[in-house]
Amino acid sequence: MDKRYEPGRRTVLGAAALGAGAAVLAGAGQANAAGTGPADRSTPAGPLAKLPVPFVIGHRGASGYRPEHTFGSYQLALDMGADVIEAGDLVPTKDGHLVCRHEPDISATTDVADHHEFAGRKTTKTVDGTKITGWFTEDFTLAELKTLRAKERIPGIRQHNTLYNGRWEVPTFEEVLQWAEREGRRRGRPIWIYPETKHPTYFRKLGLGVEEPLARLLRRYGRHTEHAPNILQSFEPSSLRRLGELGVRCPKTVLLDEPSVRPADFVESGDPRTTADLLKPEGLRWIAGFAQGIGPWLPQIIAQDDQGKLGRPTTLVRDAHAAGLFLTPYTVRNENSFLPLDFRVGNNPGDYGNSLAYFKALFATGIDGLFSDDPDTALLAAEEFRRR
Ligand code: G3P
Ligand code: CA
Repeated sequence: MDKRYEPGRRTVLGAAALGAGAAVLAGAGQANAAGTGPADRSTPAGPLAKLPVPFVIGHRGASGYRPEHTFGSYQLALDMGADVIEAGDLVPTKDGHLVCRHEPDISATTDVADHHEFAGRKTTKTVDGTKITGWFTEDFTLAELKTLRAKERIPGIRQHNTLYNGRWEVPTFEEVLQWAEREGRRRGRPIWIYPETKHPTYFRKLGLGVEEPLARLLRRYGRHTEHAPNILQSFEPSSLRRLGELGVRCPKTVLLDEPSVRPADFVESGDPRTTADLLKPEGLRWIAGFAQGIGPWLPQIIAQDDQGKLGRPTTLVRDAHAAGLFLTPYTVRNENSFLPLDFRVGNNPGDYGNSLAYFKALFATGIDGLFSDDPDTALLAAEEFRRR
């Protein structure tokens, strides 16, 4: 088995998830003086104070058990007890509707390739510097997209999820808001969601800005205020700033890519900074000027050595808390494929490793929340961690 626990963040999670990779470098401050002991804890203040610490975010729903970004996945995450649901990663259609897909290319997560009427839409595009061949949401109207059905992205690892291929449509964000309202009424409590704007600069250049329709929808459903049960996230800081300018006051999180990566909006505007710059105290203070949290890549919380084994916590939790930011790193998954080398059990990439121990090691650093494809496992670990 390859030593690396997870493909690079930008690597599509494919059947070859155990493909060759280099050592994972943290990019944040290196091991802190306190070693692996608990860092300072900070309960997120303000609107997030109602969430438990650490809180569990169902990543793309409960995508370890159902095809991602479907109502099957969102509902299961909620029923499992996830504190927050990542519903969804947002991309626009040709006619400007926001739909829940992880990327504009829908080849891996829908049955579009089986729809002969759309064969001519297959094309090659460059998205944020990466050449991709497939079918893209921006070339489909919502009515056309609704004729497709979702399927499992990584059937080689999650064969069990293929049982549900073809069962659910691509959700719109408005349907998510209606579902959250319905479930909130039924349960007598707010349903927290954590939507992400995907490739906002790319889409804006196509005339399909995502922030305006997102702000409009949040306002329509009363979710634009400071205390609304949403957290908004983006790898592009300017997207969050724009949402703030549009009057969206709920908490916002800057996602942090691999250290060498320049956010796509920085590339567009000529800002020379990379993620490594944003991970420094000065970068974190800059983020705190318009956002309340960061979403780091897991190795930026606990580094890994060149064998892929877990190393020591970095200083990022302490530095971010000092800047007044909460941290919700991404993404823990139960399968060996995605775990640090020393948390794997056996050699089968799709078998479960000792993710419970990895969750607890991450919680011990003082993080505020965590994205997981397996919210039930994360919740069990969080409960045991709180009882320690
Ligand atoms: O949004 C948290 C995590 O989902 C970020 O990575 O690429 O899975 O959206 P990605
Ligand atoms: Ca996401």
